[in-house]
Amino acid sequence: MSEDKSLLEGTREEHRECMEVVGELVACLERHPESPGEWVRQLEGMLDTLEATMKAHFVVEEQGELYRGLPVTHPRLAARLKALESEHSGMLEAIDRVKEKARDLDDPESYELRELNARAQLLVAQIQRHEAQENEIVLEAHWGEVGVGD
Ligand SMILES: [Fe+2]
Repeated sequence: MSEDKSLLEGTREEHRECMEVVGELVACLERHPESPGEWVRQLEGMLDTLEATMKAHFVVEEQGELYRGLPVTHPRLAARLKALESEHSGMLEAIDRVKEKARDLDDPESYELRELNARAQLLVAQIQRHEAQENEIVLEAHWGEVGVGD
């Protein structure tokens, strides 16, 4: 159980760090761009930070208790964990695609800014959903251990 508790705490801590970076990106997306070019450059910087953060985060998870230990100790969670782990590379590719889109915009029209903003919002939603599903699995394993639930 203590192992589960540390997984719970470790996952919370990791995800809190990721969500801080995501939160900064969301704040940027909500800001009305006074200078479109400047806004795009800011967004690019944030996407770089997001990519580095998520890359490091995925490595921690893929090599740690969540994806290596939990499928063994909780086999009924294995299929969901496998599906979630396989989303990691796709999310990094999705970040890259939004970065590429931003890089291509030198003197953006407002519809291009809206499109870029929408793509970045989709990315945020994708990351939030993924991390929330991981949290749910960790909680399920934790509560299962302490005898609540099935
Ligand atoms: Fe995660």
